[in-house]
Parts: sequence; C-alpha cells; structure tokens
Amino acid sequence: MTDAKKPWGGRFEKSPSAFLEEYGASLMVDRRMWAQDIKGSVAHARMLAKQGIIAQADADEIESGLAEVYTSIRDGEFEFRIADEDIHMAIERTLTEKIGTAGGRLHTARSRNDQVALDTRMYSKDASLELIGFINALRASLLHVAQEHHGVVMPGYTHLQKAQPVLFSHHLLAYYWMLTRDVTRMRHAYEAADVLPLGSAALAGTTFDIDRQFVADALGFSVVSPNSMDSVSDRDFLLDLAYACTVGMVHLSRLCEELILWSSEEFGFITMDDSYSTGSSIMPQKKNPDFAELTRGKTGRVVGDLTGLLVMLKGLPLAYNKDMQEDKEGVFDAIDTFSNGLRAMEGMISTMHVNTETMLAGAQGGFMAATDLADYLVGTGMPFRDAHEVVGRLVLKLEREGRTLQDMSTQEFVDADEAFGADAIEAVDIYGVVARRVSEGGTGNDAVLDQLVAARDALAVDVAWIESQHS
Ligand code: ARG
Repeated sequence: MTDAKKPWGGRFEKSPSAFLEEYGASLMVDRRMWAQDIKGSVAHARMLAKQGIIAQADADEIESGLAEVYTSIRDGEFEFRIADEDIHMAIERTLTEKIGTAGGRLHTARSRNDQVALDTRMYSKDASLELIGFINALRASLLHVAQEHHGVVMPGYTHLQKAQPVLFSHHLLAYYWMLTRDVTRMRHAYEAADVLPLGSAALAGTTFDIDRQFVADALGFSVVSPNSMDSVSDRDFLLDLAYACTVGMVHLSRLCEELILWSSEEFGFITMDDSYSTGSSIMPQKKNPDFAELTRGKTGRVVGDLTGLLVMLKGLPLAYNKDMQEDKEGVFDAIDTFSNGLRAMEGMISTMHVNTETMLAGAQGGFMAATDLADYLVGTGMPFRDAHEVVGRLVLKLEREGRTLQDMSTQEFVDADEAFGADAIEAVDIYGVVARRVSEGGTGNDAVLDQLVAARDALAVDVAWIESQHS
C-alpha cells in the first residue's frame, strides 16, 4: 500500500498493494502524450471559463500552472511517479500542488475516459503526419535513384525465376507506388483520428453547458463526435493507424528482401554502403546487410501490434473498459518501428551502389527474349501456339549447348526455322525487348518516363497536403 492520495480516495478504505499499483499503471507508456494532455487541458479550461462554468481567474491560474508543468516535462525535470497511475493524473496532481484549489476545478465536465481518447487522437494525428513525412522522403529517394539509373536493364522475375527483362527504374517505381498507397492509408488514419471526443465525459455526456465546438476549433479537430458512448470506447482510429503501419512495414520488408538478395554474391546487383552494413566477429570477409534484415524482422512485431489491438477490442461491451489502457503500447511500438524502418530504408536506398553491368549481364541470360521471339514468329503469320513450340525447341537446344539466345547468329536463326528472317536477331536484343513494352504502365523506356512524371506529380501533391496540415 502506498500513501499517495487517489482522486477517488473518498469512496475507499483500502488502496491497492504496491504491486497492483504498478500493475495498473500506464504512466511509463502514456507519458509520451504529455504535450497533448497539457494542450487539451488548456483548451478545456478556456472553454469552461468562457461558458462561465469556472471563473476566468481560475482558468488563468490553470493555464499558467500548466505552462510550468509543460516546461518541467520538456526540460526533463518532471518527476514521473508510478503512484500517479497515468499521465493525466500525474499532470493534474502536479498542477494542483502548484496552484491549489483552481487546479481542482480543471476536471469539471471531463472524465479521464474522454481525456485519454482526446490525447490519443491528438497523438495519432501528429504521428501520422510525421510518418507521412518519412514515407515521402523514402519516395523521393526511390524516385531519385530511378531517375539516375533510367535505362539500366535488369532481369525481371516471377517465381524468382528469370522472366522478362525490365528497367531497374521500373522495378524501383513499383515500390514507389506501394509507398504512395501507404500515404493514402496514413491520411485515412489521420482523418479517422480527427474527431473531438472531449465533452463525452465518462460515457453519457455532462450536465454542464459546455461548448465542444470551441474546444474542437482550439485543438484543430475537424468535427465533434456525435455519440458520447461511442466516443469514449472507439479505438478504430488506432486500428487504422496500426494497419497503415503494418501494410507499410510489409512493403519495407519486401524491399528489404530484394536488397538482401541483390547484395549477395550470387546476384551482385547492388553493393550496400558500408554505413548500412556490418561485419562478422569471426569471418573477416563478411559484409552483412544487417539493417535490411532487421527491418524485415521487425515487421513481425508490427503485425503483432495490430493483432494485439484487434483482439483486445474484440468482445468489449460499451463504454470504457480498463482493457483499453492496453491500446497504446502496441500502437506506439508500431509507430516507432515503422518510422525507424522508413528512415533506415531511405538511407539504404540513397547510399547503395548500383552494379549496372551485373544487372545487364543477368538480363542477357535466362532466355528472357523468348516471348519476343515467339511474338516475332506470330508477326510472320505463324499461330502463337506453333511459335511457342518452335522457340521452346530452340531454347532446349541452346540450353544443352550451354548457350543463350543472344549467342545466335543470323544464319543460325534462318537455319532453325524457315519462318525466321535475318531480322530475327533484333527480336532478341535485350534493349529492344524492354523498349517494346510500350503499353501504359509497362517497362518500355518511354512508358517509364511517363511514369516518372506521374510519380513526381503524385509526390508534389502529397508534400503540398502535408504542408497545408502544418500551416
Ligand atoms: N490510463 C487510462 C487508459 O489509458 C486512462 C483512462 C482511465 N479511465 C478510467 N476510468 N480508469 O485507458
């Protein structure tokens, strides 16, 4: 048992043990919402005074007291005590110690239930904007590397078997578009959080004549929640945020996997910068893509964070339940992990060395011009199925000889089938194979140039949106 007086002390004759006090506390997790908590309280106090619910002089004292608390937390001087249970009570207790009676008036027409929902929504809004900033930075890097290496040909894969040659820029842009969708998802999470819950009180609303719109305007919320019970028990906005982080991590993880493969000796398509690699304590030759591996590994935790939140919410009756205190730790972890992953990935992409010759050499092998050679035969009037058969036989023969399509001479083509003309050799030129993919969204050089323009435009729109939110 501890001596700290609880805000609900009046009704109790006994307090929880020290163990239970710690077990029930969320302070070490929710303390990171301290700035949101203080901003929310200032807006609430101003509203209470404006409505004549508390005296203006009390509101002024509350505001200056909270400004002192703000400074002490910001400067690392605030003493966090587990006995306070959570950040809301830690701040209120400190405030009341500083200013006395007026501090005790702050919680009028408010409950920790709508207060925690408010703080969490404010925190989520800030976090989604910050994450969008990191996603955009990575998109910009991908775009830059794609532009710099436009024209570099590499093998494209299906089933991790060589399929058709593609432009390296096209491959990178595929990730660019995934990240573009991540921004859309993150913006949705932002909008989902952008609803003011304060004024719902414990669950049923309040008897005081409050002005919720005033608080919404003061704190930059677009709308006021329409139902007090939903408002204190809704954590969908956290699900949206955790989901956006999860999908984004899955994207990073896939890109990590490519970087890991590409930097192996077997592929050799890229060389990771030393600053994004580590060595081995025993094998002197090693250079490991540790940060790509770690990011891939951390994806599992974020999936777990989303799953944990879904399961925690499942089966909860209305309205607030203490279970919901468990909502923040996983989401904070998802936010931190995704933002660190994005930053690490941005560094890996912008510093990696692209081995264009190895990519090109890889694109020459694997008979990746076979489809084009069949298409060539179709152009001479041969049915596609027959063309497939002719080229298939040619591939088998070359494979036995340890050669590939690009090793064939004009004469050999003509000898292989009467339908081949002298120009058949052009059909297997790897640059030609790429350039012919002219369809919209295809890997042809011009199609990718159009794509680069579209990507640049999409990024500019998203960057402008972020700026409009900050202003
Ligand atoms: N620490 C709590 C949480 O994070 C704050 C709300 C507590 N409300 C209550 N009635 N116990 O959910």
